[in-house]
Amino acid sequence: MSRFCQIFVCATPGEGRCGAKGGGILLDRFREEVEGRDIPSAMVLRNACTRRHEEGPVVFVYPDDVWYTRVTPDEVPEIVERHLAPERVET
Ligand code: FES
Repeated sequence: MSRFCQIFVCATPGEGRCGAKGGGILLDRFREEVEGRDIPSAMVLRNACTRRHEEGPVVFVYPDDVWYTRVTPDEVPEIVERHLAPERVET
């Protein structure tokens, strides 16, 4: 049985916030990556500000409980692979 995974990407607009640091582009990039890999057990969601934008854009992966900071679009494939690779199946 595969597990369900959610990737929360902060794209909150405003000066100094994740949206101004590329959060919106990152959100789109994560969605493209997950859709391109056809992973039905994963969802990419826009996250609200968690007051970590000094390190933004920030990404949170549930249920792995892992935070990523200062994420760039180039890092998206590696993050998706780490958390959503097909071989990561729980029984
Ligand atoms: S705007 Fe992203 S953590 Fe605050």
